[in-house]
Amino acid sequence: PAITFIHADGKIERVETGEGESAMQAATRHGLDGILAECGGNAMCATCHVYVDESWLARLPAIADVEDALLDGTATERLPNSRLSCQIAITPALDGLVLRLPERQV
Ligand code: FES
Repeated sequence: PAITFIHADGKIERVETGEGESAMQAATRHGLDGILAECGGNAMCATCHVYVDESWLARLPAIADVEDALLDGTATERLPNSRLSCQIAITPALDGLVLRLPERQV
């Protein structure tokens, strides 16, 4: 599956995801700017914050308590479509997912 990131400045980057990868892992493997992922995907840092395109929100896995708590500490405002990209496992059903990057992660 491939997913699309839209940078805060409007630049669009499409990345191929590998088997079992999270959206964060796909982004960092491609060297994408805008995702820091300081904790390496362990749901401890909130520097992998993304805004999920509204049309995809209902198709994502539910927000676990630990993610929910971390989302209260993101560098840019938490919105109803905020998620941590390390907690979004990419499956074939998410092919085409669109994620918007916040202006900063720290
Ligand atoms: Fe740290 Fe997602 S990479 S919370």
